[in-house]
Amino acid sequence: MSYYEIQGGRSLYGTLEVHGAKNSVLPILAACLLVPGQCVLHNCPDLSDVSATLDILRLLGGRAEREGDTVVVDASALIRSSIPEHLMREMRSSVIFLGALLARLGTAELSYPGGCELGPRPIDLHLAALRALGAEILEEQGALCCRRCRKGLQGREICLSIPSVGATENAMLAACGCPGQTTIVGAAQEPEIADLQGFLRAAGAQVTGAGTSTITIQGGGALHPVEYRVMGDRIEAATYLCAAAAARGEVELTGVAPDTLTAVLACLERAGCTLRTGGESISLSSAAPLGGIEPVRTAPYPGFPTDAQAILMAALAGGKGNTLFVENIFDSRYRHVDELRRMGADIQVAGRTAMVSGVGRLHGASLRSTDLRGGAALVVAALGAEGATQVFELRHIKRGYQDLDKNLRTLGADIQEVP
Ligand code: UD1
Repeated sequence: MSYYEIQGGRSLYGTLEVHGAKNSVLPILAACLLVPGQCVLHNCPDLSDVSATLDILRLLGGRAEREGDTVVVDASALIRSSIPEHLMREMRSSVIFLGALLARLGTAELSYPGGCELGPRPIDLHLAALRALGAEILEEQGALCCRRCRKGLQGREICLSIPSVGATENAMLAACGCPGQTTIVGAAQEPEIADLQGFLRAAGAQVTGAGTSTITIQGGGALHPVEYRVMGDRIEAATYLCAAAAARGEVELTGVAPDTLTAVLACLERAGCTLRTGGESISLSSAAPLGGIEPVRTAPYPGFPTDAQAILMAALAGGKGNTLFVENIFDSRYRHVDELRRMGADIQVAGRTAMVSGVGRLHGASLRSTDLRGGAALVVAALGAEGATQVFELRHIKRGYQDLDKNLRTLGADIQEVP
């Protein structure tokens, strides 16, 4: 049970290169199952969620090795199509294997991923999309048995009633194994979906439209070995920017496309930070306490990302002025609020809204991470706070941040992981 010991109040200065995007690399690793040959992925972050995904690939019969930030996957000889419950539980996003296994082997068995720390996370849209393509799916006692129907899989139109990121990715992967044309209408437009398309196209798949609400796939063709570089992590970048906004200072982040973060950058600018963007870089300088801003409403891309809600809230809680947050994606995404209150934050939650009244400066406290981004938010708050903070339950943070403490020390923060 290690924890972070953070001495707040040190300004952050310097340059950091962000890692590859967690939310991109996980579906891309699942997509490697479609390729009966070697896939070389560069810019793969070393995260517990990535290790869990590599374990799943090995269990299915694939070869998966890491050297530095390069991961080599070879799924030529798969030996099974079922994923045991303990691996499914480790990571909710492993439901993405459903579409990939269906496309490659025509069958998949895995346990129901169930809810998580953000509240219920249904997969009805994933299952409806796969059924539309010709999958028969049995749901029994928490298990999902999925196989292609007797007539086989066939491309067709899929309409998503909500632009679900996971359902869009599952449908894209399954459609690659379906002869004929699949059109996904109402698709999620997140940059990570465009990155998945980039990988699939590099492997020879005919996919177009990712990044818009309509994606078209001409499926059924064989994919070939591929070498691909994963995009930079916009949420990791948002975390370092909010940390610098809260602690003040001047930082430059490289390896991330600024146009994937437009909604977050606009909020930081309104709160009083100065921002400069280049091709793959973002610089932020923050000198005064952050001010209150217009309501922040989480929404599907290009709206404000739900993954950056807790992180921005943590920065604004130690500023001056009022900001209303409205969480529209998940039911239970304010669990960090109780912890921020221990630091003196003034935040009133009512259903989907949270009213943040900046108190000028937070103070250190002993805190517990409640989830991945909520945990990162506590670190952001602690860096700008007065005095010492301990952040426990680091396993949540390590799901999505490589070397968080080391990177922050590079910028001058006083943060240590205490074993
Ligand atoms: C979501 C985020 C994504 C983030 C990820 C991890 C959005 C739109 N998606 O992706 O940016 O990286 O969490 O934190 O912000 N839903 C259903 N049925 C389904 C699937 C989803 O009702 O079958 C609902 C969910 O309950 C949620 C909404 O659709 O309210 C969006 O969910 P979805 O995009 O699928 O979530 P993730 O893929 O997990």
